[in-house]
Amino acid sequence: MPGVRDRVAVVTGAANGLGREIALLLAREGARVALGDLDAAGLDKTAAAITAAGGAALAVAGDLTEEAPANRLIAACVERLGRIDILVNDVGGSRNARIWEMKVEDWDFVLRLNLRPTFLCTRAAVPHMMRRRSGRIICMSSGAREGTPWTAYYAGGSAYSAAKAGVHGFVRDVALELAEYEITVNAVAPGPIDTERFGPGLKKLNETVEYSPNHMTPLKRLGQPFEVAHAVLFLASDEASYVTGHTLAVTGGR
Ligand SMILES: NC(=O)c1ccc[n+]([C@@H]2O[C@H](COP(=O)([O-])OP(=O)(O)OC[C@H]3O[C@@H](n4cnc5c(N)ncnc54)[C@H](O)[C@@H]3O)[C@@H](O)[C@H]2O)c1
Repeated sequence: MPGVRDRVAVVTGAANGLGREIALLLAREGARVALGDLDAAGLDKTAAAITAAGGAALAVAGDLTEEAPANRLIAACVERLGRIDILVNDVGGSRNARIWEMKVEDWDFVLRLNLRPTFLCTRAAVPHMMRRRSGRIICMSSGAREGTPWTAYYAGGSAYSAAKAGVHGFVRDVALELAEYEITVNAVAPGPIDTERFGPGLKKLNETVEYSPNHMTPLKRLGQPFEVAHAVLFLASDEASYVTGHTLAVTGGR
């Protein structure tokens, strides 16, 4: 099975958490990877883990909400690794507040962080994919695109939910725009995942609040990073060629 063997992938947000897990899995499955993130030290650790395991990785640090670093990441991938077959837009995050207390700068920060790198990296990558009439783009939405009880009831997450619904809308449209070029565009929507950064907070909610991740999730547990990474791997694979414009929920059934 070809999978992602000998493919060239860009993974943003690859220094930590899900992006790191996705980059490691794509590399293990035979892809050469270009890694983008603001966290240069974390990026070097991911790249070192990939090369130590016999894979090929290129690290390009920069703020991917800005145009020039996003263009630089895609250009470095094409120059150094020859082309770009797969783009994983993983950068994202939240600042939570109830709607009546939400600061304008926090609202803008969350919309910008979740949408601009996705737009900028996709825009830079697509001409290279169009020329070759093939490509896979996978964006990171969230179960929050439909609201999240444990955030909404206890902290307020409207900016994040709006941004992740925005990722879903982005994927629906760009999939249509690129269909004639045989480029597929999909999203993965994780539920509560036990990453290094967010796992401890989610576990604390499980012990302290009623509408907790475990209580509100049919599978009654947090997801593991590998479960998200394998969904991305499928959508990035040669075999996912008839799937486009889809947001795949990895939410434990919620
Ligand atoms: N962890 C979860 O439970 C969960 C659930 C649903 C969706 N998600 C989404 O999955 C993605 C990854 O989440 P995670 O939990 O691994 O988060 P994380 O914070 O561990 O990783 C995000 C990465 O993005 C990088 N980053 C932040 N701002 C950046 C910028 N301006 N430019 C470049 N890189 C930047 C960070 O340095 C970090 O390495 C995000 O889009 C997140 O919204 C996560």
